[in-house]
Amino acid sequence: MKSLIITLLYSVVACESGPINDHQNPMTSDVYNQSKVHVMQDTHQDPTHRDVYNQSKVHMLHDGRHQPEYYGYDSPPCPDAEDIAPCVCTYDSGVNAMNLNCSAVESQEQLKQIFKADFQIKNFREFRIQENNNIKVLESGVFNGISFEIIYMNNNNLEVIELQALNSCYETATKIDLYGNKITSFPFDEVSLFSKLSYFAMNSNSLSVIPADAFHGLTALEDLHIGDNHADIVGTFQDLPNLRKITLYFNTLTTIPARFIQTGSSDLWYIGLDGNNIVSVEFGAIAIVDGGLVIDMTGNSLSTLEEATWRSYLEAGWVLYAEHNPLVCGCDIAWLFGEERLLEQVDNFTKCTDGEYLHDLDPKIFDNC
Ligand SMILES: *[C@@H]1O[C@H](CO)[C@@H](O)[C@H](O)[C@H]1NC(C)=O
Ligand SMILES: *[C@@H]1O[C@H](CO)[C@@H](O)[C@H](O)[C@H]1NC(C)=O
Ligand SMILES: *[C@@H]1O[C@H](CO)[C@@H](O)[C@H](O)[C@H]1NC(C)=O
Ligand SMILES: *[C@@H]1O[C@H](CO)[C@@H](O)[C@H](O)[C@H]1NC(C)=O
Repeated sequence: MKSLIITLLYSVVACESGPINDHQNPMTSDVYNQSKVHVMQDTHQDPTHRDVYNQSKVHMLHDGRHQPEYYGYDSPPCPDAEDIAPCVCTYDSGVNAMNLNCSAVESQEQLKQIFKADFQIKNFREFRIQENNNIKVLESGVFNGISFEIIYMNNNNLEVIELQALNSCYETATKIDLYGNKITSFPFDEVSLFSKLSYFAMNSNSLSVIPADAFHGLTALEDLHIGDNHADIVGTFQDLPNLRKITLYFNTLTTIPARFIQTGSSDLWYIGLDGNNIVSVEFGAIAIVDGGLVIDMTGNSLSTLEEATWRSYLEAGWVLYAEHNPLVCGCDIAWLFGEERLLEQVDNFTKCTDGEYLHDLDPKIFDNC
C-alpha cells in the first residue's frame, strides 16, 4: 500500500519536474533525487509537495480498491515518542505496520498512562513486553482501545491477566504468546472471543487448572501450547478444525479420558503429552487422524500399551514416543510384534522396565502368548 502511494507520488513529481529532469546534468539529477526523498519524509512543509501528496491520496480513494490505513498521516504515524516512553513505537514500511515495544516499562500504572497518549492509529501489529520484572498484573482495559495482532509477553513476572485486559484484541489477535511468566490467573472465558487466533502459548506458567473447553470452536487455531504449568487439565479439546500442534507436557494428567482430543482437524501432526503422570489412555481418547501424526508419551507412567487403544493409531500411521515409561513388556504388547510390524512406529529408544530396548526383543518370545 505505502509503496503504491510513493510510486504515485514519484510519477506525479516526475511530471511536474519534467523540465528540470530534461537537463542531463548530474547536479540537477541529484537535486531531483533529493526532492523525492524530501517528498517522502516531509510532505507537510512544502505547499507544492503537499498538493501532490493530496492528489495522490484522492487518486487512491477514487481507485476504490484501496483504503490506505495510514491515509493522511506523515509516516511513520506513531504517537509522539516522549508521550509513550519508555515504550518504543516503530513503523515497518515493508508490511505497512506499526509495532509497540514496552519491554522497558516500569510499572502497571505507567503502562496504563502510556495508552492514554494520543494514538492517531489504533490498529497496531505487534505488542511486546519481554524480560520485564516490573509488571505483575495486566489490568482490565489497559490498552485503552488500541488493538494488536501479535502479542508477545514472554519471560516476565506476570501473575494475573485481568478480565478484559485484552479486550481490544478480540477481533485482531492472531498470536498471543505468554510463554514464561508466573501466571496464576487468566480470563479463559474470553478465549473463544479471539476469532482470528491461530497461535496461543501459555506454557511455563503457574496455572493450577487449565479449562480445555475454553478453546472449543476456535476455528483459526493452529498451535496450542499450555505445557509446563503443573496444572490439572479439565474438559476436552474439541472443534478445533485447523489445529496442527498441541503441547500439554509437564502437567498433571493421569488418565486420558475418552474424547479428550477430538479436534476435527486433518492437519494435526503433533500431540505432546510428555512429562505427565499418565497411567492409561482410554479407547477413543484421541480421534484418529490419518497420516504421520507424532504422539509424544515420553516420561509418563504407562506400564503397557493397550492394543485396544494403540493399534488403531499405529495403523493410521502415527509415530509413538514412549521412552521413560515403566513398560512391563509381557504378552500384553505381543500385538506390536505381529505381521504388520507396528513396532516400527514406536521410537527406537523405548525400553522395558528391565532395561531392554523394545526394538531388541526377540519376537519369538511372544509365540506362546
Ligand atoms: C538517483 O540516485 C540513484 C543512486 O542514488 C541513481 O542511480 C539514479 O540514477 C538517480 N536518478 C536520477 C533521476 O538522477
Ligand atoms: C489537503 O487538501 C485540503 C484541501 O483540499 C487541505 O485542507 C489539507 O490541509 C491538505 N492536506 C495536506 C496534508 O496537505
Ligand atoms: C524491545 O525493547 C527492549 C528494551 O527496551 C530491547 O532490549 C529489545 O531488543 C526490544 N525488542 C525488539 C524486538 O525490538
Ligand atoms: C528407528 O531407527 C530406524 C533406523 O535408524 C529409522 O529408520 C526409524 O525411522 C526409527 N524409528 C523411529 C520411529 O524413529
